[in-house]
Amino acid sequence: MTVIAVIGSQWGDEGKGKAVDFLAERADYVARFNGGNNAGHTVINQFGTFKIHLVPSGIFAPNVVGLIGGGVVVDPSVLLDEIETLNQAGVNADGRLWVSPRSHVIMPYHKILDGLYEEAKGAGATGTTRRGIGPVFADKVSYNGIRWTDFTSDAFENRLQLQLTLKNKIIVALGGEALKYEDVRGEYRAYYKKVKPYLKELFSLVQDGLKENKTFLLEQAMGSFLDTDWGTYPFVTASTTIPSAASAGLGIPPRYINQVVGVTKAYTTRVGGGPLPTEILDAQSEAYQKFGEVAATTGRIRRVGWLDLELVRTSAQLSGVTEICLTKLDVLSGLKEIKVCTEYKMNGKTIRYADVDAYGLEQVECVYETLPGWDEDIRAARSFEELPPNAQNYVKMAEEAAGVSATMIGVGPAREETIRR
Ligand code: GDP
Ligand code: IMO
Ligand code: MG
Repeated sequence: MTVIAVIGSQWGDEGKGKAVDFLAERADYVARFNGGNNAGHTVINQFGTFKIHLVPSGIFAPNVVGLIGGGVVVDPSVLLDEIETLNQAGVNADGRLWVSPRSHVIMPYHKILDGLYEEAKGAGATGTTRRGIGPVFADKVSYNGIRWTDFTSDAFENRLQLQLTLKNKIIVALGGEALKYEDVRGEYRAYYKKVKPYLKELFSLVQDGLKENKTFLLEQAMGSFLDTDWGTYPFVTASTTIPSAASAGLGIPPRYINQVVGVTKAYTTRVGGGPLPTEILDAQSEAYQKFGEVAATTGRIRRVGWLDLELVRTSAQLSGVTEICLTKLDVLSGLKEIKVCTEYKMNGKTIRYADVDAYGLEQVECVYETLPGWDEDIRAARSFEELPPNAQNYVKMAEEAAGVSATMIGVGPAREETIRR
């Protein structure tokens, strides 16, 4: 049995979607287990270009069964739209996409509260995706959530009535407009009818799969440093973003996870607030221009920085990474010199990521090494040996920090633009 977790080693958007799409051919199940539609995973393959938020990115492989575990929060309109978009592109998910009835439902008040809380925080805002993620997870752990299973009885109506009484008070106090029970009830009962064919308790399916030595690909959303516990709190997301989340979020015992692929971007990006020690602020600089990206979920401009090896090191330790997938190496082509942060210093002493909080991380001094770049376009390379020596050395340096090999190297956004070792 093979259970492979594909995780992000930085602040999200490392290229997990592409890696999962690439690996899915060998998998029986591809599962999401954390987060919600705050995730935006880009997949470029023979079916087209997709920004996927909820459906596992492995769904393009025809024999794969997609799972959305109980640890995921589901916005039904996003899920239904995504299933439809995939269907129109020739990817039919019917009968091979299952959503856990344990998963929590994102309600309209979660999205409204997400926005109102952000506005109340002003300059100190988290910079959330405003998809209702913080508020729905808060309801989950304070026993105020609504799950898909509630729709099988009038539990939904009873819980909704109470929640609207509570939530409308906060919404109105913060200057928003109260929601009407009948409107929300009608809208969500209609969603339930459409989502129902995809709902299935996953316990037996997962347990049988493990017993039958099936291959599971676990697609994490977000990155290690957005983790609620280990990230740069309060500039984090509301779910666990390390492989242990797959255990609770899908019902796979931790000892079964035998491979952890740390997807690592060859530079660093971050969307939203919080520290980014290697941040490049000069918008005119060549590196800034090259690294610039538009966020897959919100369309915001991602903040950019040099590769931070202390993050790579910490994430590999925290998540028990067994191999890395180094992405976007092609983007560095053409830079004369490439800076890499090898460690942090504070008051002259080396410190680790975990020694400081988010505010401390704003203060650390990055120790940089400057490496020579390469001029060649590497997008056509399909073996490590085809890479220019300086690019090979860059990969080796990332491997050394992670303490494991780079078994995949991304040299372009499309599925086939990958070096497999
Ligand atoms: P995810 O959230 O981790 O799945 O990553 P995103 O899809 O949000 O962001 C990664 C971006 O990099 C997307 O635009 C991908 O198409 C792109 N990408 C992924 N791997 C590579 C690569 O190796 N080279 C290049 N040039 N682009 C890549
Ligand atoms: P993928 O899976 C990058 C960030 C937001 C914000 C913080 C909290 O595509 O890598 P939230 O809406 O979750 O309450 O926002 O987390 N964030 C992400 N950043 N990639 C993601 O997902 C993200 N999901 C959330 O920008 O800073
Ligand atoms: Mg993304």
